[in-house]
Amino acid sequence: MSQGKRVGIVGAGNVGATVAYSLVMLGACHEVILRDNKIDVARGKALDMSQAASAVRSHTVVKVAEEMSDLINCDVVVITAGSPRLPGMSRDDLLMINAKITKEVIQGVAKYSPDAIIIMVSNPLDAMTYVALKESGFDRSRVIGMAGILDSSRMAAFIQEKLGYGGGQIRASVMGGHGDDMVPLPRYSTVAGVPLSDVLTDAEIEEIVERTRKGGAEIVGHLKTGSAYYAPAKSTAIMVNAILKDTKQIYPCAVCLEGEYGFSDVVSGVPVMIGANGAEKILEVTLNKQEKEMFENSCKSVQGLIDTLNKNKFFEEK
Ligand code: LAC
Repeated sequence: MSQGKRVGIVGAGNVGATVAYSLVMLGACHEVILRDNKIDVARGKALDMSQAASAVRSHTVVKVAEEMSDLINCDVVVITAGSPRLPGMSRDDLLMINAKITKEVIQGVAKYSPDAIIIMVSNPLDAMTYVALKESGFDRSRVIGMAGILDSSRMAAFIQEKLGYGGGQIRASVMGGHGDDMVPLPRYSTVAGVPLSDVLTDAEIEEIVERTRKGGAEIVGHLKTGSAYYAPAKSTAIMVNAILKDTKQIYPCAVCLEGEYGFSDVVSGVPVMIGANGAEKILEVTLNKQEKEMFENSCKSVQGLIDTLNKNKFFEEK
């Protein structure tokens, strides 16, 4: 019997479940397997989605992994598990807590789905992608972080809002880490091929850049009790689909740099060709002096998080 494609999703919260729902609606794969510590929530959502699949006559089956060992032989595993930042918790506290969760999950993934491509979604995104890479022992092409598609989609939506036209024709470009110092690139952003600088003033572009950097926080400000999930989940599903269909399309994704852009052993968002083998090629964009400085700053803040993990001997404890 030929084996269909199987996608595992760890963390069936808002982001994880919406990734699953997106894949089901696309009929992107044969099976989606949800894993969550709150097993009843995973069971309920899996049933609900299976019924949605029937409604649209999608062939995708949604199952639950009762144990990590049920997440077996997946082609792609999406990791959304992590703790939110709770009152009184510092950024470093959150970093250590989510790094521990990621370590545990990744050890299971490496054991039960050793050939999978891992897509990291948990925050802090770039540092968690680094942890997943180190703990899995996988080649860097098989550990990819989702953020650039989200951040550039946010920028595109803000451009559309500002212009009042161009929806679906806007290509916005964002590089660097998924943090306040991400690097939106207006110079590489266009509306139906027309450079942004031909349709917006410098002040308008600067406003869009700032809003993009704080795009996640803007949504938290409205929701109050949680963060964004439709755009993060859709962005993740786009990556899963590109892998399963071997589309070889270029997306901004977080990968471990090995000399590209002058950095090594640090994760950052760069344009990546996504195909059946994961991150198959990293593209090097020409950056001007100012863009280069911003990209370097962003890499340095991710490096700071990795340094904190090292200082706490995170990678030495098994
Ligand atoms: C965001 C958070 C969840 O950007 O990373 O929405």
